[in-house]
This record gives sequence, structure tokens and C-alpha cells, in this order.
Amino acid sequence: MHQKPGIARLPSMRNSARPASSPSVQARLSANENPLGPSPKALEAIAEALPHIHRYADPNNLQLRTALAAHLHLQPEHILCANGSDELILLTALAYINPGDEVIMADGTFISYYMRTQIMDAIQKRIPLVNGTHNLSAMADAITPNTKMILICNPNNPTGTTNGATEMQEFLARVPDDVLIMVDEAYVEYVTRNDFPDMLVEIRNGRKNMIILRTFAKIYGLAGLRLGYGVAHPDMLDYLNKVRPVFDVNALALVAGIAALEDHAHLQASLAHAAESRAFYQRELTALGLTPFASETNFVAVRVGEAGSDTAVMQAMAQYGVAINALGGWGLPGVIRISFGSPAENALCMHTLKTVLAQRS
Ligand SMILES: Cc1ncc(COP(=O)(O)O)c(C=O)c1O
Repeated sequence: MHQKPGIARLPSMRNSARPASSPSVQARLSANENPLGPSPKALEAIAEALPHIHRYADPNNLQLRTALAAHLHLQPEHILCANGSDELILLTALAYINPGDEVIMADGTFISYYMRTQIMDAIQKRIPLVNGTHNLSAMADAITPNTKMILICNPNNPTGTTNGATEMQEFLARVPDDVLIMVDEAYVEYVTRNDFPDMLVEIRNGRKNMIILRTFAKIYGLAGLRLGYGVAHPDMLDYLNKVRPVFDVNALALVAGIAALEDHAHLQASLAHAAESRAFYQRELTALGLTPFASETNFVAVRVGEAGSDTAVMQAMAQYGVAINALGGWGLPGVIRISFGSPAENALCMHTLKTVLAQRS
């Protein structure tokens, strides 16, 4: 049977084991999850909704979109919910990219951008990071009449770095109106820098060529429920909604999302935990003679050696029950990424990293 070349080239993950989920894992620090767990208010809302899950949920997700709109000072029309923000990356690629269209993204960013645009047989232009940060001026330089879409991850997964407001405005001024800009803000709630760009203002001001992605999988601790959303001009979301599976957001995610938005105590505790963990890893990694990238997220990335060393360190740490990520496949050979865990998990991780690096030297 004829296969589409872009899809055929992708690895099939269907039978791959997930080492991070194996019982021998004592510290799962590989998926940027919230170690504090879900918001207790979200759990209560799920318990209340459970007896009703024989019913389909509202396909328009209106209650959640209304709550999000109030939270973000927008209208429900500006919001489209989905089965995780990853689904929105897929839907946007499906809806806007034709084979041979150019897409611009960083070399060293969220792996889903490579995979979803490859499905559409797009021509990918990957622009190297500078100090782990998107090079926005080089990304603007790369625009041609064939450019359909630019994907920006701010803060960037997997380096945790951010681009500031001034460079973002300079970049936006150089992007033609018919080029779609996707700004993925999966980690925005963790950001502390004062000059972080406010992309919601662009949508409030009526910008038509931008979609902002956010998720409940990170600070809200609902990764397993699958809930994300896009913020954009209503025209774009009406169009995207045509490719969205009607009941993609499940009934439990809808109520949990609303409750999580209201749980300020959980959000504050998660922020405090991330700040403590960030300081811990900064201190400990620096003491080991390593130079972590400047993280504004719930994870930290750090170079541990030449190409291949990232995989070797990840595999060695797995032997000690610590799951982390190797970033060679993401365009960052020699770099590992550690998600923040509980204080005990963080301590175990650093102890193990020291042991593994000592064995390699
Ligand atoms: C930058 C970025 N975007 C999107 C996602 C996908 O999140 P979700 O669980 O909402 O699909 C992730 C998950 O790790 C991510 O890091």
C-alpha cells in the first residue's frame, strides 16, 4: 500500500518500552511532570463527574473555555481546547501545511514540531540555538515566499531558556501577515523574568496569524488527563475546529481544568517547589563543574560531554533507577534534561549523576 514518505520516515513507537514507567524507576524525571501531583480541587471535581461518564461531554467545551477566557481576559471565541496541546500542534500542521511548504523552527526544541510537520512532508528549516535560546533574528532571516509557519517554544523545551519581549517584537515585525506563528507556552506559568513577552496582547489586539499553545499537563499536574488549549483569532480557531475530533476533550478533563484554574494554593506550591528545585540544581550542577542552561521552567538541561555522552549518561542513570532524558535526538548532542522531582528524587538524581560522571572520567 502506498505510504506517505514523511510518515514512513518517522520511527514507529508502537512497541517501544517506556523505561521511565518501569517498576525499577525510583525517580521519574523525564517528562516535566508536576511532582506535587494534581490539584486536590481537580481531584474532587473528577470524583463528582465520574458517575456521569457514560455521557459524551459538551463538544464545544464551553464552560471550560468561558473559565479560561475569564482567566486570560479574552472571550471564549479566542480559545480552542484539545486533547493535550500536542494535539493542537498536529491539528495546526494538518490544517495549514501542504507537502513542500517551508516551516521554520529551532534546532534543539520540542521534538513534536519535527514529527508533526514531517507528517505533512514540510521542508523543515531548523535554526541553531544560541546559548540554548531561539535565535529569532536568524529565524526571521530564514523566511522566504514559501514559508508557511514558524514554531517558537518560549520557554524552550528542552533547554528551559526564554526569549524576551524586545527581541520578540523585533521578530514579529519581520514576519509577513500570511505566515502562521505558533508560540508554544507550555511552561509560561513558571517564568520569572519581568520582560517575558505578553503574546496574549497580540490576540487581544486582533492579530490573525498567531496561535499560542498552553497546557494543563505541567504546572496544573494533569498530564495524564490530556488537556491543552490554543489561543488565537476566532477565524483561525473556527477553521482549526473543522479538523478537530469532535469529542477529543474528555468529560473528566473538562471539569478538572476548571477546578485546577481556581486552585491558587496548588499553583503557588508548585511555583515554590520549582523555584527551590531550580536553585538546587543550579548549585549542585555548578559545583560539579557543569554549566546548566538558564531555566525558567520545571526542568534543567546541561551538557555532560561530547555527542553520545547524553545517551550513555541517561542509560547509566537508568541502571540506578533514575529516569532522565538524553537530547541528542532533539538536536542537542551531549546534553541531558532533568525534570524537577520531589526533594528526595532531586537528591537521588544528583547523587546518581555524580556517581555516573565519576565512572566515566
Ligand atoms: C513545549 C511543549 N509543548 C507541548 C507539550 C505537550 O503537552 P500536552 O501534554 O499538553 O500535549 C509539551 C509536553 O511536554 C511541551 O514540552
